Amino acid sequence: MAGVTANAVALVALLCMLVRSTSSYGTPAPAPPSTSVWRAAKATWYGRPSGAGPDNNGGACNYKNNHLAPFFSMTSCGNQLIFKDGAGCGACYQIRCNKTSHPECSNQAKTIVITDVNYGPVAKYYFDLSGTAFGSMALPGRSAQLRRAGMIHMQFRRVPCNWPGMKITFYILKGANPYYLPVMAENVNRDGTVVKMSIMRSKDGRPTNIWEPMYRSFGAVWRRDSGNPMKGPLSLRITSDSGKTLVANNVFPAGWKGGVGYTSKVQFY
Ligand SMILES: *[C@@H]1O[C@H](CO)[C@@H](O)[C@H](O)[C@H]1NC(C)=O
Repeated sequence: MAGVTANAVALVALLCMLVRSTSSYGTPAPAPPSTSVWRAAKATWYGRPSGAGPDNNGGACNYKNNHLAPFFSMTSCGNQLIFKDGAGCGACYQIRCNKTSHPECSNQAKTIVITDVNYGPVAKYYFDLSGTAFGSMALPGRSAQLRRAGMIHMQFRRVPCNWPGMKITFYILKGANPYYLPVMAENVNRDGTVVKMSIMRSKDGRPTNIWEPMYRSFGAVWRRDSGNPMKGPLSLRITSDSGKTLVANNVFPAGWKGGVGYTSKVQFY
């Protein structure tokens, strides 16, 4: 009996070590979003038939130009279990539908990115896809017929995003000023998501080594408000939802401005 207890204690200690070693800084990381099992969902579509959702801007996540690289209009709203108050923005999923759902379905897996949110209580998992993404599940030449179905059953699974050759761009939103810094990470590879962001200032041209937390403003946008002007150069640190962290040193120069995207030298691989 005593032996069993001792073994149990040892096992618990080992598990604690394992859990600790997977965390980056602060809270333990959730399970890595490697390719997961196929799950059932319902799908509808919105925007123009061959568009990227509403006017090519990403709705709730705030991404822009979703018809261009790397999304190429393959975008979607996710309901709360997918959108996760913005923590799901940028995540990639494969989607497919088969003949059981609709005769025009090809059952070929296509990859989409979460750029927006939807709220209809339609199913546990519910994707409101761009017209392009919905149509991509069809047999060749049958996209228009499939879109006429309106709502269908489909299957989905999380996959790593694959944005070859792209580094992460940190876009400062218009309206930013030295006391208010709203930032969005774009072209995030693999997990695609950002679940933590912090900022480091420089003093006399040297990094202060003090990371100040940023807070999710909405969608993929993070912000820092400060009574002390946030003069550049500024560094950023981001964590994705599998707990991977990277630092973009001095990514914002001394004269940083709102409405500008600053491309970093870093990426998740
Ligand atoms: C076809 O799709 C339905 C859901 O729409 C699913 O229940 C079924 O398992 C799928 N069949 C195959 C062979 O994948």
